[in-house]
Amino acid sequence: MLKIAITKGRVEEKFCELMKKAGYDIEPIVNKDRKLLIKTKDNIEAVFVKANNVLTFIETGTVDIGIVGKDTLLESENKNYLELIDLETGNCKFALAAYPSYRNKEFVAKKKIATKYPKIAKQYFEKKNEDVEIIKLDGSVELGPIVGLSDAIVDIVETGNTLKANGLEVIENICDISTRLIANKSSLEFKNTEINNFVNKLNLEIRRENNEKYIKTNI
Ligand code: PRP
Repeated sequence: MLKIAITKGRVEEKFCELMKKAGYDIEPIVNKDRKLLIKTKDNIEAVFVKANNVLTFIETGTVDIGIVGKDTLLESENKNYLELIDLETGNCKFALAAYPSYRNKEFVAKKKIATKYPKIAKQYFEKKNEDVEIIKLDGSVELGPIVGLSDAIVDIVETGNTLKANGLEVIENICDISTRLIANKSSLEFKNTEINNFVNKLNLEIRRENNEKYIKTNI
């Protein structure tokens, strides 16, 4: 039995698509309704949790592998896992964003930066040798500049629609992020064959999709 913790929501949707294409039975997952633990015909037991809890489930050995965004991994102090593959889904980026006037504005006091990711924001401004005030928000971070709480935000940008709808724009890209498959270190030892089989099947599908994209754009 391979135990997996999957981040609920967008990550879950894309991961299930990938599992299906790789030949796994995802019907019990798609039809799970409000059930939080699902067993599939392929000897997989999946739990659906918030991103940070994926790391807790991995660290405690509650599950063998986890599906989580690189944003969560970068922000967490918990390094008690092994990152096995980039699933190449959920592709987006961290960016510094603000009203266009941010570019020309003179700042007399410290810049205020709203973010759900204080660690990422702190590291970014430290690299630039800028001393800023970081304000932690839990979601709807774009409100920072709108309500005058902050001068800019450090946040995830996927389509850019949320920024656009609120008159904000990317000032600088920070780094690319995507969904990753991580594993518990001892599971990797004791369930090596099961984990490897699973990872290999997903990897084959990722490569097949990449080849297809390459052919479409180049031939
Ligand atoms: C994320 C992120 C942005 C938005 C970016 O928020 O924090 O707000 O998605 O996506 P876009 O570039 O495609 O518009 P999410 O929807 O996860 O909700 P949250 O604001 O509650 O964190």
